Amino acid sequence: MTSDLPGFFQGTEMPTAGWWEALWPDPAGVLAAVGVKSGMEVIDLCSGDGWFTLQIGKIARHVVAIDIDPRLLELARHRLTESGVTNCDFALGDTYELAELAPRPADCIFMANAFHGVPDRPRLARAVRKTLTPAGRFAIVNWHQRPREETMILGEPRGPRTEMRLSPKQTIEAVESSGLKLAHLIEVPPYHYAAVFEQPTA
Ligand SMILES: C[S@@+](CC[C@H](N)C(=O)[O-])C[C@H]1O[C@@H](n2cnc3c(N)ncnc32)[C@H](O)[C@@H]1O
Repeated sequence: MTSDLPGFFQGTEMPTAGWWEALWPDPAGVLAAVGVKSGMEVIDLCSGDGWFTLQIGKIARHVVAIDIDPRLLELARHRLTESGVTNCDFALGDTYELAELAPRPADCIFMANAFHGVPDRPRLARAVRKTLTPAGRFAIVNWHQRPREETMILGEPRGPRTEMRLSPKQTIEAVESSGLKLAHLIEVPPYHYAAVFEQPTA
């Protein structure tokens, strides 16, 4: 499945339901590992159908879900409403317009399963930096740079094409070009890593 929305990042289509839940059985655990905490203002960038957004809403003070696909944003809104989670705003738009889409600075910007598709990653990192509070964090969860045929879920190879996948080094170089600094690099089994960057305070 592909999307023809203008500005849509290649290779970041939301998977059909089923294997996503199998791959991410504990989204709250991933959020805890990257440092999402109570009291935080969080942005879920490229939020998709809200699988992580829901858990962010349960942990944080407030979350803004941003996605370019109105249909997915509506699914996310539905997911949160059904669960009685009301501390979320939904913003339709392109990540590059983050500074305009976010109502206020964020303590944490979380981006899962989408950074590999961004054509101009330093540009995105600059937009993120502008939107973070001092000491705010940018947490990127990426597929490891492994051959697609090795990342099997429910009996089939899954995830972006092999050549689209980024190593931690490529991710760190792209983001640090904006002035953000790597704070942690974490394994997120079975097939992902998280790179967490911090806004320098001085
Ligand atoms: C693979 S999904 C991941 C969704 C969610 N982060 C998760 O891990 O469950 C990637 C999402 O990025 C969104 N997306 C693609 N290009 C975008 C852009 N230019 N700006 C904002 N969102 C975009 C897609 O619509 C899709 O919902």
